[in-house]
Amino acid sequence: MLKTGRNDACWCGSGKKYKNCHLAFDQRIENYEIMGEEVPDHKMIKTPAQIQGIREAGIVNNQILDIVGEHIKAGISTQEINNLVHENTIRLGGIPAPLNFEGFPKSVCTSINDVVCHGIPTPERILKDGDIINVDVTTILNGYYADASRMYCIGKVSEEAEKLVRVTKESVDLGLKEARAWGHLGDIGAVISEYIYANGFTVVREIGGHGVGLEFHEEPWVSHIGTRGTDMLLVPGMVFTIEPMVNAGKADVVQDSKDGWTIYTKDGSLSAQWEYTILITEDGPEVLAR
Ligand code: MF3
Ligand code: CO
Ligand code: CO
Repeated sequence: MLKTGRNDACWCGSGKKYKNCHLAFDQRIENYEIMGEEVPDHKMIKTPAQIQGIREAGIVNNQILDIVGEHIKAGISTQEINNLVHENTIRLGGIPAPLNFEGFPKSVCTSINDVVCHGIPTPERILKDGDIINVDVTTILNGYYADASRMYCIGKVSEEAEKLVRVTKESVDLGLKEARAWGHLGDIGAVISEYIYANGFTVVREIGGHGVGLEFHEEPWVSHIGTRGTDMLLVPGMVFTIEPMVNAGKADVVQDSKDGWTIYTKDGSLSAQWEYTILITEDGPEVLAR
């Protein structure tokens, strides 16, 4: 791609000349790069119009997860959750991103107990008292993607399950606080993993968060076991997910060889996950979907 000329229109769509808009911003990033930092390229920095589109997708995504929360209870099947997500997404003008994504057969992921993520809804799996379930909803609205997941406790769950769900949520909120412009992506994973291990749980290594917005999964990949001051520079306009998967037992996971999707804990222990889509701004992170 040719470098934008000083008097050309800025890439952000403001209509201003580049020299009066994002030139200084781009030079700041370039200086970090010269100093040896890993920096995002333009594809990872959203324009104000794109951010507004993702924000609106996030509002719909939040509404869908709220609706799930109102209906989820012992006795309903994961297929019924799927139908609830599918029908409400369409009603609100969106498209459920999981459906047919790389062959995924349903409109939402439902991951119960020892399922870490990517659980496939079925009419046979009925929620029962004591289950913990992650419902992971991704909405496409006007071409923009927002991705978030929540845990739901069904009836009375064990003390361990309750703690796992709570600590996982708390870790995402701690990670969020580290999502600072001109900080590092590794700061987020560092605080998350420190908090999780301090609470006696483990963090899944193989699956991470991701850039999101114009596609389902974009760069960068977001590790939940980072090191402070390392990994990509965080820059205003970046949109990505924080979505740690936290196991009560060992961190190892296995994939279902029959359906090719479902990820389980290897030792059969419980697993929890929460996911936000966030935007980096000069004034701190904005949660676009939660
Ligand atoms: N929503 C998941 C994530 O947080 C991805 C699910 S892929 C699917 O990245 F195909 F299983 F939907
Ligand atoms: Co995600
Ligand atoms: Co998700």
